[in-house]
Amino acid sequence: MSRAVRFAMAMIVSLGLLTWGALTIVQRTTRSWFEKDLRLRVDLVMSGARQALLSHWEKDDRRALERVLADIARDERIMAAAACGTDLSFLAGTDEFPEAFGCVRVGPHLRPAADSPADLWVPWSVKASLPGGPVHVSAVPIVGGSQPFGFVVLVHDLSFVARREALTRRSLLAAFAVLAMAASILTVIFSRLSWRDWSDEIRRFLQGDSERPEFRPILGDVRRLVDRVMLEHEADGSGAGWTPDRLKQTLNRYLHREKVVLVANREPYIHERGPDGRIDVVHPASGLVTALEPVMRACSGVWVAHGGGSADRESADRHGRVRVPPDENSYVLRRVWLSPEEERGYYYGFANEGLWPLCHLAHARPTFRTEDWRHYQEVNRKFADAVCEEVEGEDPIVLVQDYHFTLLPRLIRKRLPRATVLMFLHIPWPNSERFGVCPWRQELLEGMLGAGILGFHTQYHCNNFLDSVDRYLEARLDRAENAVVLRGRQTLVRAYPISVEWPVRWLRDLPPAQECRRQVFAELGLPPNALLGLGVDRLDYTKGVEERFLAVERLLDRFPEFRGRFTFVQLAAPSRTLIDRYRQLNERVESLAARINARFEDGPYRPIVLLRAHHEPPAVFRYYRAADVCYVSSLHDGMNLVAKEFGAARDDERGVLVLSEFTGAARELTEALIVNPYDLEQASEALAAALRMPPEAQRDRMRSMRAFLAEFNVYRWAGRMLVDAARLRRQERLAGRLHDGDPDPRAVLS
Ligand code: G6P
Repeated sequence: MSRAVRFAMAMIVSLGLLTWGALTIVQRTTRSWFEKDLRLRVDLVMSGARQALLSHWEKDDRRALERVLADIARDERIMAAAACGTDLSFLAGTDEFPEAFGCVRVGPHLRPAADSPADLWVPWSVKASLPGGPVHVSAVPIVGGSQPFGFVVLVHDLSFVARREALTRRSLLAAFAVLAMAASILTVIFSRLSWRDWSDEIRRFLQGDSERPEFRPILGDVRRLVDRVMLEHEADGSGAGWTPDRLKQTLNRYLHREKVVLVANREPYIHERGPDGRIDVVHPASGLVTALEPVMRACSGVWVAHGGGSADRESADRHGRVRVPPDENSYVLRRVWLSPEEERGYYYGFANEGLWPLCHLAHARPTFRTEDWRHYQEVNRKFADAVCEEVEGEDPIVLVQDYHFTLLPRLIRKRLPRATVLMFLHIPWPNSERFGVCPWRQELLEGMLGAGILGFHTQYHCNNFLDSVDRYLEARLDRAENAVVLRGRQTLVRAYPISVEWPVRWLRDLPPAQECRRQVFAELGLPPNALLGLGVDRLDYTKGVEERFLAVERLLDRFPEFRGRFTFVQLAAPSRTLIDRYRQLNERVESLAARINARFEDGPYRPIVLLRAHHEPPAVFRYYRAADVCYVSSLHDGMNLVAKEFGAARDDERGVLVLSEFTGAARELTEALIVNPYDLEQASEALAAALRMPPEAQRDRMRSMRAFLAEFNVYRWAGRMLVDAARLRRQERLAGRLHDGDPDPRAVLS
């Protein structure tokens, strides 16, 4: 049904209701007028006839009385009249006076007036009906001097009132019907015309062609709304969930198949020469890679990264390029080569001994060395060169990832002023006091503000960033828009909570969860009735691995039922091992596991199994599917994708996630048992609750978590960022057009 027809129908229904209301009011009003009119008539008739009636009454001349009554009844509205004595006797009356209103029937209704010394009656009247139609009966007392003679009964014909009412009703109905038709036709015509005008106007605005100033303040809001609606419901024509195809279509539709250039320090495929001389392809343990690799497979383009594998050079061409994934060739991996000094200063030094502890609240002191800073600057420049080599045209889309490249957005902006640069931070952003300890805080902030859009996992981190800018830079903050304007250029600061692919490709070749469990139990030598806990991390002090082991110890102390039965397996990928802090962590974790095992070991039973090695994704997913509980105990984490991967792996809807409240994921995965990892009582209790949780409760939580993950997957994350990037491009193009002739294309509007 068209909008116009629906509108007209609504109009007719409303007018119908209106007519019904109006009719009721008109009917009530006219009836009360008629009644008033009737009473007036009675008074008139009786005052005209009173004298004659009195004189005939006194003489008891009944014939004369009859004549007077016949005169009265000559009025076409008075059907009958009768004279009655005070004793209710019938004295005289017109022909066929209805018996129903005879003296004895009406008389008893006459009451003496309250203040009348001679018991004079008060006139009385009533509405009634006769076979011929409605009538009005009135009894009027006849008094001579102060002496009551009797009363006269008059019967009025009311059928004319009913006739007039019917006529009024018909006329009103006809008038309203004509009005309703006319109003609906006019409304439809006007609404069509004005809708067309309005939508033309909006269309012109969205295309940036209109000159009317009154819409300007709402223009941004309307564009955003339109984009959001389009993004949510139309990108794949069905409004269904996000898939690689839908992401591809979004890219085509909004960014016209622009090539995406992504820059991240960690490469998605590392070529390593093994001890047997064979080259293996390794998938690194990195949340960043987990999230972005599926996105790049969907979008194509180039991933620029540090080539750190022992066989990386020989696997790439002379420009450092190699097509990946190895058998699919979906996109290009461009490797950037770093000298050992550069790697030490930039990666181990400034990025991981300076910025990493600066941004994570995990009691590690950041170390800032001038030498590291120099390397960090150099390497950022080197990556800017690589980006410029990989882009096509002067306005590419560049996605800069993480804290390794805080200077890169500004460097790219200088070299490619028309590029659309998005930067995403995969780690938390600290509050401004904490951030302020960095000697190069201003350079970092200015470097990041070279991006048009700056993304964090949570709004909280966005706010911290805005506060840092407020405190350490001369820039304008637009809190309402969550934006910073630095030297006339705007950077939007937005929360984009990252996620995992859905469905996870590693599950394709894995057996069902029960079989994975059987295999893992066999590998670990666990009896079938054992309970399995799981931790999966890089060995990093922010992950709270020590707190996790202590929680397991506390669990076994407090709940003896789990001793000999519960085993916690920790998959720990060695990470950043050239840094002292990480080497110490390795040792501490190992000796802690040994101490706890020594306390509770019993024959072959050990409560903690520490597997310190790199595990490829299929092996990790097998463990996810085998475990009864997965414990993510990060002390501080931007998001933590292990938590999301665990949910994505459990298509059997079993298993419980125990999750640290200090992860970004805890804001989204509310089905997990959320704990403070420092609170060992709470954490051990949550582990016990997870291990005791009935299958139905596990299923309910897992089902709900999986529904969330299916919808809020990484394709959606990327789609939202790319659509925002498209809007930014449009704005910048418009601004560029407005600034035609401006010698500096960087001076675009904010
Ligand atoms: C975190 C960082 C990523 C990094 C990953 C692994 O998730 O945000 O940028 O890739 O850790 O660390 P690594 O130093 O091995 O790349």
